[in-house]
Amino acid sequence: MFLELEAPSLEVLISQQEIEGAVARLAAQIRQDYGNSDLLLVAALKGSFIFLADLCRMLETNVSIDFVQVSSYGDGKTSSGNVQIRKDLDINIEDKHVLIVEDIVDTGLTLAHLRELLGVRKPKSLKVVALLSKPETHSVESEIEYVGFQIPNEFVVGYGLDFAERYRNLPYIAILREG
Ligand code: IMP
Repeated sequence: MFLELEAPSLEVLISQQEIEGAVARLAAQIRQDYGNSDLLLVAALKGSFIFLADLCRMLETNVSIDFVQVSSYGDGKTSSGNVQIRKDLDINIEDKHVLIVEDIVDTGLTLAHLRELLGVRKPKSLKVVALLSKPETHSVESEIEYVGFQIPNEFVVGYGLDFAERYRNLPYIAILREG
């Protein structure tokens, strides 16, 4: 099925089963921390769309969803450090419990920018759940309340993550090496 995508340059790092386990674990922690409170999930497009879809279905709280799109990468593999807002939220977050849903934290610049952007809008609380984190490359202090996996400094694709808009539909996470 993924014959063309399974080129020798893709090496599975985290299997579909491991991802399912991590999402269940994160959802359990979030359910425990928020209890019956209403929760607004703010997902960073596009990479977190699959993680969001799986995570939100495992939360039993009253959940709302909104999207923000910031961009710092273009088509390349390294952050430009220049974070720009492409799409802002539709929902007013004042006095709401907000949980930012991130696919991956690399340098941490995107997350720092998002926290600043949302923090000034006076949410009741503001936390972050990230499926993946590359601690070796964090250039800014990035506090992440819920982390799925800490991974090495490799460029990864799949489960929503792309390289030049490809590979998002892989059900696992793989390291993309130059072919
Ligand atoms: P940061 O601002 O450097 O932390 O980068 C965060 C964003 O860069 C993520 O939301 C992804 O969209 C993208 N990104 C960072 N590392 C990778 C990777 O290994 N694969 C795919 N996208 C990545």
